[in-house]
Amino acid sequence: MRIAVLSETDSAEPRVAAVPETVKKFKALGADVVVQSGAGTRAGFLDDEYEAAGATVAGSAADAARDADLILKVRRPGGEELPLFKRDATVVAIMDPYGNEDALRAMADAGVAGFAMELMPRITRAQVMDVLSSQANLAGYRAVVDGAAEYGRAMPMMMTAAGTVPAARVFVMGVGVAGLQAIATARRLGAVVTATDVRPATKEQVESLGAKFVAVEDDEFKQAETAGGYAKEMSEGYRAKQAELVKGHIAKQDIVITTALIPGRPAPKLVSEEMVASMKPGSVLVDLAVERGGNVAGAKPGGIVTTERGVKIVGHVNVPGRLAATASSLYARNLYAFVETLIDKESKALAINWDDELVKATNLTRGGSVTHASFQSKTDGAASEAASVGLAKSEVNKASGSPATSGAQ
Ligand code: NAI
Repeated sequence: MRIAVLSETDSAEPRVAAVPETVKKFKALGADVVVQSGAGTRAGFLDDEYEAAGATVAGSAADAARDADLILKVRRPGGEELPLFKRDATVVAIMDPYGNEDALRAMADAGVAGFAMELMPRITRAQVMDVLSSQANLAGYRAVVDGAAEYGRAMPMMMTAAGTVPAARVFVMGVGVAGLQAIATARRLGAVVTATDVRPATKEQVESLGAKFVAVEDDEFKQAETAGGYAKEMSEGYRAKQAELVKGHIAKQDIVITTALIPGRPAPKLVSEEMVASMKPGSVLVDLAVERGGNVAGAKPGGIVTTERGVKIVGHVNVPGRLAATASSLYARNLYAFVETLIDKESKALAINWDDELVKATNLTRGGSVTHASFQSKTDGAASEAASVGLAKSEVNKASGSPATSGAQ
């Protein structure tokens, strides 16, 4: 069994899908591991470290992928990479499938079995493979570090001979995996932390981290959590009450971190232009939802906007990539934990159990077809619709695209 680890082709992606530690583990399972030269460099893992862990280093993607049974990546392979893969190769990555049906079709046409790590069910057995959690946790941490770096004052209260410095006030909006880590990080830095969410379960979690919970706790709030543990989209009435509460609170904050997401929907707008304008000069907003439409009015993906009154809105993209070494290590471990379940220990070969619920939930393409129910009809339907009305495929993709649910990748 030959495993290939490729460099990411997207210049905005510094993470790598395997680190020397996981290479060693794959070797122990009896695999040959080939790493494309430079694949780990931007995450701080050099070719000689991979070699020391037992990998062979190949000079190009083509050399690394040639005859590989299993290809590991951070992001979905692009059209230029697919022809390099063996026809029935297995490819595991963060695939970002929603709204990218054309790309799934291309993967199917290349004959590969593609698996999307972000579709892993959030069940106990798969916690170790949960890339949404491993990466969102780091994004929450980094959001506070980025916010603190842009803030021109200190975070903790300091009593000095020159006078007392007050503690910064940090408000976290959206308390999923990223929000909880943001609260913990801001507390460690000495800030006074408040947080809000629409799911009632978060109140106790916020308080257990030493922060204060701020929310409209009406009847709708009590039912805002789906059976799967996610937030529902709230009614207009609730959003108005929420905005009123947030309006008064936000004007007193120094740093606001927003992480609010609803699966399959654009990010909820939580901070209006008026609220941004009410904040003190020098305060900072960090919008972790910026890639999904943003929680903060005026946030720009990939940059920092400073308003006329000197409020900064931070909209970095690929925030886990800003901690590329840690994010790669955790992602690589998530991948290893999943891939291990695809390998037969006796024959030391890939032996995928297509009835396994983890395989069923994550498999997108196989044997020339799009296999995942959520995308099957869209790609097939879109293709036949295009054929019948003479539309270009890219136009169909735009028309049938739904928002990505891949969170903080
Ligand atoms: P997410 O990234 O989908 O959303 C982030 C947060 O935004 C959520 O807490 C959500 O309630 C909140 N939100 C949505 N609309 C909002 C609004 N209008 N105002 C304020 N907040 C709003 O969430 P994530 O981090 O993926 O976690 C969601 C759930 O999944 C949580 O219950 C978490 O505990 C659970 N989970 C379970 C895991 C498992 O393995 N069993 C692993 C990770 C998370």
